[in-house]
Amino acid sequence: MIDRQTVDRILDAANIVDVVSDFVTLKRAGTNLKGLCPFHDDRTPSFMVSPSKNICKCFACGEGGTPVHFIMKHEQLSYPDALRYLAKKYHIEIKEREQTEEEKAEQSERESLFVVNEWANEWFQKQMYDTVDGRAVGLAYFRQRGFRDDLIKKFQLGFCPDKYDAQWQAAKAEGYNEDYVLKTGLCIRNEQGKTYDRFRNRVIFPIHTISGKVVGFGGRVLDSRTKGVSIKYQNSPESSIYSKKRELYGLFFAKKAIVKEDLCYLVEGYTDVMAMHQQGVENVVASSGTALTHEQIRLIHRFTENITVIYDGDAAGIKASQRGIDMLLAEGMTVRLLLLPDGDDPDSFARKHTATEYQEYLKEHQVDFIRFKTDLLLNEAKGDPIKLSRLVNNIVDSLAVIPDEITRTFYIKETSQMLSLEERIITTAVVKVRKKMREEKQREKERPTNERPTPSPEGGEEAGAQPVDIPVPDYQGGDADAEPAIEIGSLPLRGDLEGSLGVPAGRGGSSSFDEKIVQAEVLLVQQLIRHGEKVMCDVEDEETGEPHPLKVAEFISFSLEQDALHMILPIHQRILQEALTHLDDEGFQCTRYFENHSDNDVATLAISLAHDPETLSKVHSKGLTIPPEEERLAELLPHLMTDYKLAIVKKTLSGLRLQIADPAMKVNKERFNLLMQEFLNTSRSLQELSKQCGDRVIS
Ligand code: CTP
Ligand code: MN
Repeated sequence: MIDRQTVDRILDAANIVDVVSDFVTLKRAGTNLKGLCPFHDDRTPSFMVSPSKNICKCFACGEGGTPVHFIMKHEQLSYPDALRYLAKKYHIEIKEREQTEEEKAEQSERESLFVVNEWANEWFQKQMYDTVDGRAVGLAYFRQRGFRDDLIKKFQLGFCPDKYDAQWQAAKAEGYNEDYVLKTGLCIRNEQGKTYDRFRNRVIFPIHTISGKVVGFGGRVLDSRTKGVSIKYQNSPESSIYSKKRELYGLFFAKKAIVKEDLCYLVEGYTDVMAMHQQGVENVVASSGTALTHEQIRLIHRFTENITVIYDGDAAGIKASQRGIDMLLAEGMTVRLLLLPDGDDPDSFARKHTATEYQEYLKEHQVDFIRFKTDLLLNEAKGDPIKLSRLVNNIVDSLAVIPDEITRTFYIKETSQMLSLEERIITTAVVKVRKKMREEKQREKERPTNERPTPSPEGGEEAGAQPVDIPVPDYQGGDADAEPAIEIGSLPLRGDLEGSLGVPAGRGGSSSFDEKIVQAEVLLVQQLIRHGEKVMCDVEDEETGEPHPLKVAEFISFSLEQDALHMILPIHQRILQEALTHLDDEGFQCTRYFENHSDNDVATLAISLAHDPETLSKVHSKGLTIPPEEERLAELLPHLMTDYKLAIVKKTLSGLRLQIADPAMKVNKERFNLLMQEFLNTSRSLQELSKQCGDRVIS
């Protein structure tokens, strides 16, 4: 448990720009900053960060919130763990008691798998540095490959001893849950029920997430002992924390350099990443031997638009990976290629050259992908008209996916020159392909919604296992360059709000009174969230006659109690209750408390209400300069409360009226009289309330 004061210190320290910048490159956009949304497939920056409000929000998919919510969502952490993450970032000390065995068991599976991996990562390193075999075999292997000691440390490389189940025994001895150890894939149980170490007698490359947590491992056999006998790499299997297609090896160590250089190198494997770092090139990631996936591209795109793919292969290999490259182009990235001399990969090439030579080579040999492809194919076609036409179509396919029109036009011009074709011909072909793409997309959209992927469920521990692919709302498909007017907290939140309240969007109908009540209630809750802990006025204590300060939350609670009312929507009632509970806590602020609430629904509502510019000042004071809201609380709140009660009374009256008018009532005299009585009483309340509307009394 983290105590309230520490929580407040963390929330106060957490700066949204800081926090988001660890994962997304942000650019200034007026008073806000913007970048590509990490929560959906974003091609044009839709993710807004407001430094003044200290919140972020995607205007396309709607994700966002305070720093703590961003971290919860992005890192798939629980609320307390998101706080711990931020505490670490801001060097805020958290004093926590040891977890009991029971609490350990209750941790969610994902968190537990991370804990096991973290332990394993340490264990592999200990095996390498602190055992004879580790040093003689593991460390020696890396050194013999030419890896420097500082980089072996930095990448947390390790070693798994050549024993059947050394790690399994160690994990059990240290009390790790067997089930989780098996689920991480570190150990494997065979059909005979025997359990052994997956990575035994291998050197270990831990695989880190973008934020540095270990999701899996790659274990390489040691050349000397197993030549040709077993598979070169054993990798962690897919699990609730590891999905090969969603991670990029080296990204955690590369992201700063990628931003600084505004460029990312893409290589094939673990050793290539290491080799590049060793040569002073740190903006490098590896797709780990598989074709680049959409998810991986998005990870890179968050930091830069420029990618250079390094190939050790020949022309055939390059053609095979065209699909991946077209995906990069479609993502709006600028793609360059770099071909290494015959037979070299980044690793072997690194060993033959000095850092300066290496970097020079990288600089001088990068070629634009489209130009590269045109050259390559042109060379192949060599005057063969059939091959040539196939080549043009191939290039046109690549050109057509480029989302930015200016870039596309530029490339069309250039390729037409290279191919000695009229620009118009290529343009026409590109337009055709784009049209086909659009039609396909349209058809996709028209497919029944149940065939389309659904957004991952909100909150809950289970959400952790869900990919972050959130379908883009349709309106984003419009003019990609149109800049929506951003007012964080006012734009999509209004819609969200109504949605979450369950209020029918349309007016009128039988529920129109309910809607009025809810609207009035929302205005009260808005004041509660903005000013709940503030003193509204002094009131006389009933017993002592002494004046004593009345806080906004108390006023709302007392006045509801007076008429035996409670808030109609459970979420509102809950907010009121929680505000009352914490009202006397030192330094308690409703806005901070609710905006950062662990329940995402509460937090979203709080953010929208706290920042919604369409407030009372607009309703009650058009054209006048008026003092800030906080100075008018004593006047505003009774007003709002009366409006609220009026709405309820009116609703009650209309209900009674209906019942009384029911022909069946005439038969039941007793019931009729009761209803009439109630009707009269309520009417009187209505009159009184209406009168109060003019008054300013707090009773
Ligand atoms: N890879 C893998 N599983 C395999 C083979 C390869 O996961 N069975 C991935 C690894 O990420 C590896 C990358 O593909 O790093 C490239 O493969 P390769 O070039 O064969 O391995 P290197 O890491 O370059 O190893 P080395 O240079 O020692 O041969
Ligand atoms: Mn290799």
